[in-house]
Amino acid sequence: MLDDDLKARLIDVARDAATRAYAPYSNFAVGAAVLLTDGTIVAGANFENASYGLSLCAETVALATTSSAGRLADVVAIGVIGGAIRGGKVTGNEPISPCGRCRQVINEAAQIGHRDVEILCGSAEGDLVTRHLCSDLLPHAFGPADLGVA
Ligand code: THU
Repeated sequence: MLDDDLKARLIDVARDAATRAYAPYSNFAVGAAVLLTDGTIVAGANFENASYGLSLCAETVALATTSSAGRLADVVAIGVIGGAIRGGKVTGNEPISPCGRCRQVINEAAQIGHRDVEILCGSAEGDLVTRHLCSDLLPHAFGPADLGVA
């Protein structure tokens, strides 16, 4: 379990990433921060598209960046925050939690790294952060282990 300092750092990085979300259609910004075994933090923000269904979630962007750096097996935790963009600011006090597709993407890192990735869900402005494990948010997951890859 992450200590309070690290937890706060991850949420801060996710909040900062959310300010760079490309979300002109939903006006809902999401930021994600992936913590690696050596303390490296990889950030991502949602990346929408005029063809709405092509939009990428923040968690997926952050994990694809992590994979591109050759570090998918090193993921320890991911922090995620999000909220409506109002007056150029990301707002809201309710923690958000990863969508179903993102849970599946997080599970890929979890199984490849043989680690039950910790998922911290925060809000744009509030203090409440909920903590989950990948196996809680996606029980009985299908993943690389089923294909003999992990
Ligand atoms: N979104 C994420 O980035 N992550 C999630 O887990 C849920 C939703 C994004 C997708 C879209 O750009 C916006 O939030 C509204 O759904």
